Amino acid sequence: MRSPIIVALDLDYEDALTLAKKIDPSNCRLKVGSQLFTSKGPKIIEDLDKLGFDIFLDLKFHDIPNTVAAAVKAASDLGVWMLNVHASGGSKMMQAARKAADNSNKPPLVIGVTILTSLNEVDMQEVGVNNIPRHVVNLAKLVSQNSLDGVVCSPGDVHGIKELLGSNFLTITPGIRSIGAAEDDQSRISSAKQAIINGSDYLVIGRPITQSADPLKALEMFLEEIK
Ligand code: C5P
Repeated sequence: MRSPIIVALDLDYEDALTLAKKIDPSNCRLKVGSQLFTSKGPKIIEDLDKLGFDIFLDLKFHDIPNTVAAAVKAASDLGVWMLNVHASGGSKMMQAARKAADNSNKPPLVIGVTILTSLNEVDMQEVGVNNIPRHVVNLAKLVSQNSLDGVVCSPGDVHGIKELLGSNFLTITPGIRSIGAAEDDQSRISSAKQAIINGSDYLVIGRPITQSADPLKALEMFLEEIK
């Protein structure tokens, strides 16, 4: 079985590439987010691809259907393994994303973002959502109805989503923290082991690896924890 860990390379170009060169691609996949992609663009995808990594392009598209479709087509043509859009963009937007991905030579997995793991009850009340678990499940249902491959959600949301939408519907969970470690700006967190027990398919881990004094050792420890 391939590793379920996706390392979030929220670093500048040089640091991202230096770290990637040290990692064995069979130990994890890599996530390129807005920091790295905005500063370096498709070049970073090419470089990481050459090193043999599957790449999750985490740009969380959220726009009108026509614009999202064009962005998804461009991202798919880069040959990424997975990309994402915001589920709150609605059905028409998600359908446009699906169609655009499927029209590329090598369709990537297309994932819907539910609610960011950094947001807590108070943050969500501010934007008019009073029940996070119910809102996440509603968004996940919408993602599934529109034929996307799965969702980004918190580890605590996984069980309910799998129960409702089946084990093949993918769950990708950020907000992974070892017990007692710094939460940073994350809010709805869990340990790697608990996320796997809950049924998460892929764990997105950033700072606990990239900001560690020894990133390779930190990755090894996470792999050991979920073995
Ligand atoms: O450093 P940390 O482990 O908190 O990184 C989590 C990564 O997952 C970040 O790159 C962040 O952008 C991303 N992410 C998230 N919550 C989501 C979707 C993506 O934290 N809902």
